[in-house]
Amino acid sequence: MTTAGKVIKCKAAVAWEPNKPLVIEEVEVAPPQANEVRIKIVATAVCHSDLHHLFESMHEDGFPVVLGHEAAGIVESVGPGVTEFQPGDHVIPLFISQCRECRFCKSPKTNQCETGWSVGRVQEMSPLDSRFTCKGKKVLQFTGTSTFSEYTVVNQMAVAKIDPAAPLDKVCLLGCGICTGYGAAVNTAKVEPGSTCAVFGLGAVGLAAVMGCKAAGAKRIIAVDTNPEKSEKATVFGATDFVNPKDHSKPISQVLSDMTNGGVDFSLECVGNAGVVRSALESCVRGWGVSVIVGMSLNEVATHPFQLMSGRTWKGSMFGGFKGRDAVPQMVKAYLDKKVKLDEFITHNMTLDQVNDAIELMKHGKCIRTVMTVSPQ
Ligand code: APR
Ligand code: ZN
Repeated sequence: MTTAGKVIKCKAAVAWEPNKPLVIEEVEVAPPQANEVRIKIVATAVCHSDLHHLFESMHEDGFPVVLGHEAAGIVESVGPGVTEFQPGDHVIPLFISQCRECRFCKSPKTNQCETGWSVGRVQEMSPLDSRFTCKGKKVLQFTGTSTFSEYTVVNQMAVAKIDPAAPLDKVCLLGCGICTGYGAAVNTAKVEPGSTCAVFGLGAVGLAAVMGCKAAGAKRIIAVDTNPEKSEKATVFGATDFVNPKDHSKPISQVLSDMTNGGVDFSLECVGNAGVVRSALESCVRGWGVSVIVGMSLNEVATHPFQLMSGRTWKGSMFGGFKGRDAVPQMVKAYLDKKVKLDEFITHNMTLDQVNDAIELMKHGKCIRTVMTVSPQ
């Protein structure tokens, strides 16, 4: 029996209020409209941006929201005007769209698609754009994706078609954190062969940055984390040294400078802390050091202008600078060709019913990534 063109009733985790556990509810997911694709979500993971939204910035105007944006699934049906996708295609939803037509999409320098911004896809869709309802109320779609649900509807500009041979419960991680860290090293820092790098913060994003530094040919990769338990995992992804700032009385930038005869060539901040952003910049060597802001810090950052005048470069990127529709299928291929690791990031496996447990693990730094199975494949 086909579901195309019909409202689908399914299970989703709804955030009714800030700072409260999500509630598994029956929701209605409307059919895809023009240029939209309805996707059966097979696997999804909890990422920090879901938590930021739930705990710090969630809308207070009364609209509930379905969180989740790191996921993979299968196209169930397509709306009018969709030519690139058909039911059965394996896909990864994207929180940054790639319209291929705007000024930003046409430039090879950025992934900041303007069309995505103008429809509010970076935060939530407007209530009118959401295809979700629950108990008679509109439910917003987080970052235009909403993957803590058995089904969701996404604009085709924000969907990447991937090799159906790829295991969805692994490649779902390419929907956010892994591409963010890996791309920050490869695309944004443009790490060079033989260079020395420092990566601050060894969650999924930082570990992926370590992996990116290694893939780019870095000779020395210094992993920095205040949690000593992260050292072993960092080695798995290619770190050559581990430094715990708490083991030193000197500032971490001084420690790194002493270790590297004046500072690292490239540094990546993958914590999301304004103080660490500054330390990462000041850990770079003067003359040519490049520092990339990867973590999402909610506070303003500062440094002395001389840090930049003496030749350091301060950069940042979102989603590793990757243009999602083009790059995510290539990252999936790199995983299938064993050039990119994904399995090693997964510390826990759960089902969508356990989403609050997965959130607790993330909140308390007890996991790298928890993959939840949502719908059977
Ligand atoms: N110095 C070094 N490491 C630190 C510090 C610090 N001062 N404070 C925390 N850390 C470490 C934590 O111990 C942890 O290992 O940073 C790591 C952060 O990892 P996760 O919390 O697992 O976060 P992750 O999913 O990797 O995301 C990192 O990127 O996308 C953004 O919003 C996200 O800001 C978050 C960041
Ligand atoms: Zn665009």
